Amino acid sequence: MEHKLMELPFDKDALEPILSAETLEYHHGKHHQGYVNNLNALIKGTEFEEMHLENIILESEGGIFNNAAQVFNHDFYFNGISGEETKPSHHLLELIKRDFGSLEAFKETFLDTAAKLFGSGWVWLSLNDGEVLEIEAHSNAGNPLLRGHTPLMTCDVWEHAYYIDYRNARAAYLEKWWELINWDFVSQNLLKFDEKRTEHITPCNDNSELCEYIDALDRADHSNT
Ligand SMILES: [Fe+2]
Repeated sequence: MEHKLMELPFDKDALEPILSAETLEYHHGKHHQGYVNNLNALIKGTEFEEMHLENIILESEGGIFNNAAQVFNHDFYFNGISGEETKPSHHLLELIKRDFGSLEAFKETFLDTAAKLFGSGWVWLSLNDGEVLEIEAHSNAGNPLLRGHTPLMTCDVWEHAYYIDYRNARAAYLEKWWELINWDFVSQNLLKFDEKRTEHITPCNDNSELCEYIDALDRADHSNT
């Protein structure tokens, strides 16, 4: 299976003046494309050739892992920004308030974590095993899939993401990147997680007496709410 470079969900100049068309030409057209090309070349003739990207990330190491994860991470990053104003869903906002206190407090911690990440890497908002929101800092190509967490949002802090527009001023890039967050994408990722979880709660539909009893309890429970 050949992996393809995703198309940007916006015009190259749509994020100006925060991120220039030149930055996107390099970041998407050269770096992101480079990871896709490297991945396709490295997996040829290997057990990873027909695997989905997420499975390659979980099962590989070295060059194949680095390039596969960079493709996934950049897909996530570019889908997670937009030139249009968006807002977090009510549910997402509720979880942010529950786990960080407020949207402002979350922003401060997220951007501080991103500013302090040493070297190149990624900062993520994820849902952990306990379904609690977590901010994760990963060096190089790391991401929450490696911890079995569900990624919701990411910020690229490799210098190639900001050097053309901000030179070495990572904190200035982060502050402006915050204005580009595509909250619709983040909210949809949370919704997809909720839907997947609901799918796992299937009715007990065997014909045994025990199942009939459980289904009856379930119906009674729902009729009381
Ligand atoms: Fe990048």
